[in-house]
Amino acid sequence: MSSTGSGIDTDCMTMARFLLSEQRKHPHATGDLTQLMNAVLTAVKAITSAVRKAGIARLYGISGSTNIQGEEVKKLDVLANDLFINMIRSSFTTCLMVSEENDNVIEVETEKQTSEGSATVKDALQPGHQIIAAGYALYGSATMVVLSIGNGVNGFMLDPAIGEFILTDKNMRIKPRGKIYSINEGYEKYWFEPVAQYIKSKKHPESGKPYGARYIGSMVADVHRTLKYGGIFAYPATKEAPKGKLRLMYECNPMAFIIEQAGGMATNGYINILDVVPENIHQRSPIFMGSKEDVQDLIECFKKYGE
Ligand code: F6P
Repeated sequence: MSSTGSGIDTDCMTMARFLLSEQRKHPHATGDLTQLMNAVLTAVKAITSAVRKAGIARLYGISGSTNIQGEEVKKLDVLANDLFINMIRSSFTTCLMVSEENDNVIEVETEKQTSEGSATVKDALQPGHQIIAAGYALYGSATMVVLSIGNGVNGFMLDPAIGEFILTDKNMRIKPRGKIYSINEGYEKYWFEPVAQYIKSKKHPESGKPYGARYIGSMVADVHRTLKYGGIFAYPATKEAPKGKLRLMYECNPMAFIIEQAGGMATNGYINILDVVPENIHQRSPIFMGSKEDVQDLIECFKKYGE
């Protein structure tokens, strides 16, 4: 780090610098990913600002209600969705988007499509091993973006003073084994045998110490902790929700891609999450992901107690 004594790093590795240097490693790169990320980061910065400013009345309000100036008040999730769609649409790097908030795929018209025919839902229904980049944003005491473009995982923290994302967590790796399990234990009575047996083995091990339990109830935050400290995150199929809860295409797959890129594993209990071929864009899947050895223990329970 070079600093002038002002506390300012005069050679800081911003996300833009990072992407440009990656782009230069590929002589035929178009720069589209850099352009797309630029749009994504604008949305993340705007959401950060909204999260910081959000008063009880304003952003936690009911979607569609109006504020004192008669303007429409948007709930944070609607606002975030609108921001991402608008910024990405105008980046000219996308032909199709899928979002939890939209029933159908969001089509974006491009010049290329007009000559070649437009992208359809079929183009979106691809297994996770076709992913080339995935990331998430975490809006905590600081805003963090974790990104993988297929050669490892890097974490960037937003420096609000300059509005740039700075590389703070270089080449993130997940421990081969952790000491934490993360699952909603309130649903224990709905668990199937493999999950019940697995959690029991972590709470009452034949040897060694029991695992600790941590569950925030927000997948991004739970998976982020799993990536940083190791262990396993689980959202299983239950007797109440036989397909699980989390959505394959935009919750399970991108996080599984990142976890694999960091040296971990992700499964639905039987097969690698990234091998599942989606049949519809909002399809759900059971998921278990994290440290390799922990996920392998879980897979053993499915072999032993599963159907
Ligand atoms: O899918 C939305 C979500 O909030 C995830 O981020 C989170 O992991 C999960 O639901 C929590 O669900 P539950 O409250 O059933 O544990």
